[in-house]
Amino acid sequence: MKIDIITIFPKMFTGPFRESIVARAQKKSLVEINIHNLRDWTKDKHKSVDDQPFGGGPGMIMRVDIVDRAVTDISKQFKKKIILLTPQGKPFTQKKAQQLSKLEQIILICGHYEGVDERIRTQIVDEEISIGDYVLSGGELAAMVVTDTVVRLIPGVLGQKDSLKEESFSPATGGLEYPQYTRPAEYKKLLVPKILLSGNHQQIKTWRQKQSLKRTKDKRPDLLATI
Ligand code: 6GU
Repeated sequence: MKIDIITIFPKMFTGPFRESIVARAQKKSLVEINIHNLRDWTKDKHKSVDDQPFGGGPGMIMRVDIVDRAVTDISKQFKKKIILLTPQGKPFTQKKAQQLSKLEQIILICGHYEGVDERIRTQIVDEEISIGDYVLSGGELAAMVVTDTVVRLIPGVLGQKDSLKEESFSPATGGLEYPQYTRPAEYKKLLVPKILLSGNHQQIKTWRQKQSLKRTKDKRPDLLATI
């Protein structure tokens, strides 16, 4: 899988993709992540990627022609999606991440809240994604969130150590993950639930399912509607 990110702040991406699971996935060639500087597709000496809005008003607007050239050059694969990160997009979910992880290429365009030319939305982009109901100063952090979430779902990226099956929001449960414990079995008089030390795998499984449901009811009752 290829993930191509188009941004005016390429240096923002140097840290997050060089650590942990995303770094490992790149080393194993399970994903190729490329960060592209939108200014590389400008033709004027100031390398400007935005301009004033027609009709007047504050802020600058990202230009359609430059984004179009960038996306055309970067589009390589048949099974691909071109995505604009913007607070106006559809809320990002685990289910959306699952879908994206099955593609050959995703192109993430980092929007800026001042705005993008409407023709980017209507002519270039397949979908718009938001990572929550709050405003970031740009789509870069959102692109990192989407990348991280998608990469760990690519087959082979996680060992069975970090299992996907029983985690929160996974298709298996839809709800939140059950409580987990490790040694010590007693800490400041706090005991690990006895059943987890029993070795009875059937009972442990039932206990975990119950806990998962209870936890979801308590913390995220809104999720129960979707289970
Ligand atoms: Cl994708 N972009 C920006 N600028 N703000 C956001 C967002 C995206 N998702 C939530 N807030």
